[in-house]
Amino acid sequence: MFDYDAELVRYNAHLQAAADIQPDDLVLDIGCGAGQTSRQAARSAREGSVMGVDVSREMVERARLLAEEEGVGNVSFVHADAQTHRFEPQGFTVTISRYGTMFFADPVAAFTNIGSALRPGARLVQLVWQAADRQDWVTAIRAGIAGDRPLPPGLLGGPFSLADRTVTRHLLAAAGFDDVEVTEVHEPIQYGADAADAHAALLDLGMIDFLAPDLDGASAAQAPDRLRTVLEAHDGADGVWFDSACWLVTARWGR
Ligand SMILES: C[S@@+](CC[C@H](N)C(=O)[O-])C[C@H]1O[C@@H](n2cnc3c(N)ncnc32)[C@H](O)[C@@H]1O
Repeated sequence: MFDYDAELVRYNAHLQAAADIQPDDLVLDIGCGAGQTSRQAARSAREGSVMGVDVSREMVERARLLAEEEGVGNVSFVHADAQTHRFEPQGFTVTISRYGTMFFADPVAAFTNIGSALRPGARLVQLVWQAADRQDWVTAIRAGIAGDRPLPPGLLGGPFSLADRTVTRHLLAAAGFDDVEVTEVHEPIQYGADAADAHAALLDLGMIDFLAPDLDGASAAQAPDRLRTVLEAHDGADGVWFDSACWLVTARWGR
């Protein structure tokens, strides 16, 4: 399973600081993955509680296991699509997400549904990627695998679907959020302790198919070796790092 905690270690501090979880908070973590952000929120919300939701059963099972191993009792995990899951109405005082809100089929419907789970005035704090061409992990790996072909059009969506800050502001407003603020955060991400480690992780993640779906047979066959070469070029004393850029999005539920 891909280690998002290691990849996003530099970004995590930004999310924690902005979320500023209080002892009595009731926290909803969207797309919680293996649950690191949920567990951290639960430790701060010591008189409150946290619910992590993720559409991946495997991730939810991992999150439950880690919470149990770490003895974090005030956190629960739900296997569900956050766009449509029937949350307890007004059950939460804050919702957080570390790159878990960019995959909705209908973002306005999804954020409206998430909002219905929030108390009036509850905060939303999330990290989302900026555009693909602002990510060194996209451009460097794509160039290494596919040369100077333009980025495939598919990279406008998926993880980059909230990359346009104006669109994000409008869709959150349309869903019923007020005071939407979008702030730039710039940090490197880590793919592994060394190039071999990162190579295995990115193959497992499907990075070649994601960044270079347009390669033909011969180029596709060479892609794993080319990926290794890119990773070796980024292999430093403390692991394999790539530059990246995201938006820290904050808002308040206004309904
Ligand atoms: C990039 S991972 C981030 C995971 C986690 N937030 C972290 O930082 O470690 C995105 C996560 O969002 C989840 N996800 C995607 N669409 C979702 C949806 N509609 N509802 C709930 N979770 C979703 C994925 O299963 C995945 O675990």
